[in-house]
Amino acid sequence: MADPFALFDHWLAEARQKEPNDPEAMALATTGRDGQPSVRMVLLKGHNVDGFTFYTNDESAKGEQLAANPRAALLLHWKSLRRQVRIEGAVERVADPEADRYFATRARDSQLGAWASDQSRPLDARETFERRFEETQGRFEGKEVPRPPHWGGYRVKPERIEFWSDRPHRLHDRRLFVRDGAGWTEGLLYP
Ligand SMILES: Cc1cc2nc3c(=O)[nH]c(=O)nc-3n(C[C@H](O)[C@H](O)[C@H](O)COP(=O)(O)O)c2cc1C
Repeated sequence: MADPFALFDHWLAEARQKEPNDPEAMALATTGRDGQPSVRMVLLKGHNVDGFTFYTNDESAKGEQLAANPRAALLLHWKSLRRQVRIEGAVERVADPEADRYFATRARDSQLGAWASDQSRPLDARETFERRFEETQGRFEGKEVPRPPHWGGYRVKPERIEFWSDRPHRLHDRRLFVRDGAGWTEGLLYP
């Protein structure tokens, strides 16, 4: 049976060996109510048959776009392997207990940063952010840092996954998997 996840695992494992940094980095494209696409990098923090997960601030630009239009596209490009993977589908928020578990694994400064940053909103000066970070350090001194209520995970539930790999003379290989009920159908695309 066609299984895009086995192929994804295989490619990601190779990328972890070959990429000089951030093999889990992926571009996340979203569109809000105005139809204007927006794209930025995020880190893949987990994946399984249910989807591909990243974490962010719900009140960020991407969080607001996903609230208005819970669909997204992801792109991983591994330059050293000359490969890309394109993923498209609906987006759901990760359940709170799962987000709590992931948040607890983050470095303490990253946890504090999640409280101190009003991600995507205007900042008058770098010092303002640094002051807010210090205030946050003081607020949680000697305590565990809980996950902020406005910070959490999103899971892209794939409906299409395309694997592109470089071939000589631009005769590239494109394998497209399209969700078909509980399974997938696989086909090729012209490059
Ligand atoms: C390699 C890389 C990884 C990143 N990973 C994340 C991430 O996992 N979550 C996140 O919120 N921002 C991440 N960022 C920052 C985002 O690209 C972006 O600047 C931020 O989330 C605000 O985006 P927005 O204003 O469109 O919401 C990353 C940036 C880079 C370059």
